[in-house]
Amino acid sequence: MRTSEKILVIGSSGQIGTELVQNLRAIYGIDSVIASDVKVTEQAKEGPFEVIDVMNADSLLEIVKRHKVTQIYLLAALLSATAEKMPKFGWDLNMQGLFNVLDLAKEKHIEKVYWPSSIAVFGPNTPKINTPQYTIMEPSTVYGISKQAGERWCEYYFNKYSVDVRSLRYPGLIGWKSAPGGGTTDYAVHIFHEAIKVGKYECFLSENTVLPMMHMEDAIKATIGIMQAPTEQVKIRSSYNIAGCSFSPKEIALEIQKHIPDFTITYKPDSRQQIADSWPQSINDEYAQKDWAWDKKYDLQALTADMIKNLKK
Ligand code: SER
Repeated sequence: MRTSEKILVIGSSGQIGTELVQNLRAIYGIDSVIASDVKVTEQAKEGPFEVIDVMNADSLLEIVKRHKVTQIYLLAALLSATAEKMPKFGWDLNMQGLFNVLDLAKEKHIEKVYWPSSIAVFGPNTPKINTPQYTIMEPSTVYGISKQAGERWCEYYFNKYSVDVRSLRYPGLIGWKSAPGGGTTDYAVHIFHEAIKVGKYECFLSENTVLPMMHMEDAIKATIGIMQAPTEQVKIRSSYNIAGCSFSPKEIALEIQKHIPDFTITYKPDSRQQIADSWPQSINDEYAQKDWAWDKKYDLQALTADMIKNLKK
């Protein structure tokens, strides 16, 4: 591993960024990882931090040059539920942010890019069970459309300009260190906080809505794993399917009850139900397993036990 690596994480104070920065710093050293977000956050106390608006290509270039950045993890985006409320802004942020970063790599200012895609690239006509890597993709949300278009552009920049861009289609991510914001899968984090705090939870999805999910530790492992994989192993330059575990609100509630017997759940589906209904229930990730040895650790039982243990502390 190069010790001269300088890593910029854009959108570092969000759900993924918070944990990713900690993990990258443990590997590369505190000063080699620059956290950045649109405003100053608590993270600024922990190491190098820059205020970055990813829409501003000039200031992005200035920061990349000043820190001699070699890799960017671009996490700034509007998630599925928020983007439905602000479709134009969601599209602009998710696409322009990606172009600004891909162009830095095209112009050889940086060497490597990580950009997250999502199960939201799939749509109502996609096979829902064991969804293959290559299948019908007709996303029906602004977020999904932006992620699918982004995947096409990543592959295009790789083929046309040799940009070393790597990507994963994340399922819903569940961790105890940071809170999600604006997603359809967020319930699966909120439910743990409410179970421990008040012993009950009102879910915004219906009881049998099965979605693909993953423990944050697995997601971080996959993210750093694909970024550290030898170039020739990363054969897919749009984005890789990765799978953790799949469950419904009812199933996770039953699992939580094994630890908190009095926990109760009620259901009040809102507009996010329609988004969830358009997504797969489970994901086939054989390409990630085969190409760069992806392997998950957490199933629903292990994930639940870990969340409760750590949130109770
Ligand atoms: N967790 C995301 C969302 O719900 C999916 O990528 O929007």
